[in-house]
Amino acid sequence: MLIREATTADWSAIWPFFQEIVAAGETFTYPVDLSEEQGRDWWLLPAPDRTVVAVTEAGTVLGTAKMNRNHMGNGSHIASASYMVDPAHSGRGVGRALCAYTVDWARAAGYRAMQFNAVVETNAAAVHLYRSIGFEVLGTLPEGFRHPTHGYVGLHIMHRSL
Ligand SMILES: CC(C)(COP(=O)(O)OP(=O)(O)OC[C@H]1O[C@@H](n2cnc3c(N)ncnc32)[C@H](O)[C@@H]1OP(=O)(O)O)[C@@H](O)C(=O)NCCC(=O)NCCS
Repeated sequence: MLIREATTADWSAIWPFFQEIVAAGETFTYPVDLSEEQGRDWWLLPAPDRTVVAVTEAGTVLGTAKMNRNHMGNGSHIASASYMVDPAHSGRGVGRALCAYTVDWARAAGYRAMQFNAVVETNAAAVHLYRSIGFEVLGTLPEGFRHPTHGYVGLHIMHRSL
């Protein structure tokens, strides 16, 4: 697996699983009927932010991550990141590799910490993964997310220093 910068040419490979994940409405605070154009604009970030894809040697896109400044001005030393792994390729370490990449990117870019703004508390894979690489839950917005099957659940703010 290789992690490289995403280009607009990658979008057609990203969109099918991106849409599946967003439409499921279980993990992101994006509109579940997000349009392809809006999704592309939100996900493919220009420098100095960065969006990457994890690909096989044959070029199959397994997952993607975006990493970016979380706040502006005097809060601009905190980074954030988001991840989507194609469900057909989940559970094989792609998400962990993308997380590690974003932490390395944020550190190299001079950020002092990373913050995830809205981690759905029922997203066990994400919460486990983030904790395992040093993030902790700073607090939880009670009933911050309307999960399609669990109902109102909390949204964690997660943080790690760099
Ligand atoms: C969360 C996500 C990025 C993880 O990617 P992945 O490639 O499947 O994850 P990995 O294979 O790297 O596994 C990461 C860890 O999660 C664990 N995990 C997987 N499913 C789990 C579950 N249901 N409960 C607890 N841990 C789980 C794995 O065991 C692994 O931990 P380990 O290495 O200690 O065994 C991926 O599932 C995804 O894209 N989900 C939908 C979108 C999403 O939730 N994005 C994050 C929003 S905050």
